[in-house]
Amino acid sequence: MAHHFEFKQIGVIRTPYTDSAPYQPVVNDEGEFRIVLQREYAQGLADLETFRYIYVLYFVDRLTRTTVMIEHPAWTPDTNVGLFASRSPVRPNPLGLSVVQLKKIVGKSIFTSGLDVFDNTPLLDIKPYIKDLDSKNDANYGWIEKLAGNKQHLLLHIMGIPHGY
Ligand SMILES: C[S@@+](CC[C@H](N)C(=O)[O-])C[C@H]1O[C@@H](n2cnc3c(N)ncnc32)[C@H](O)[C@@H]1O
Repeated sequence: MAHHFEFKQIGVIRTPYTDSAPYQPVVNDEGEFRIVLQREYAQGLADLETFRYIYVLYFVDRLTRTTVMIEHPAWTPDTNVGLFASRSPVRPNPLGLSVVQLKKIVGKSIFTSGLDVFDNTPLLDIKPYIKDLDSKNDANYGWIEKLAGNKQHLLLHIMGIPHGY
């Protein structure tokens, strides 16, 4: 039997994106990116500023379609790929995960590099991204290897960055 769980919102993510966002974080995108914790959790930010990168976990709260097990990623819509081999936000549990640069912490606000979420997305958790523990030197591109085009070009598509070629 499948269990159901409840999560608490611990803060909110503020971004310049009202109703469309990049497919993945764009490091130097324009505007302010800020994670604001609820006051009761602010003390938990102690020592986080010693890290350069953080994981941000959030609830993807404004989905407009239902989950399917075979996805057609928005950046390569002619491709069929299993949901769990994709980064689609439309999942049985709509949890989002982004790795971003931590710029500074002021009070209960964390200022970061670009985040790929709509303004006011509910925050579920933050964790430090730890060198060597979290970066894998032998990571690969999975099924993306089979797509035509060079990696730099594909990465622009994956992130949803407009480009002229
Ligand atoms: C493809 S997801 C990737 C999220 C995360 N980086 C990951 O890999 O889990 C990013 C997309 O989710 C959508 N999105 C962002 N915030 C959302 C929200 N609060 N509700 C619904 N969709 C959202 C936007 O269309 C954005 O392009």
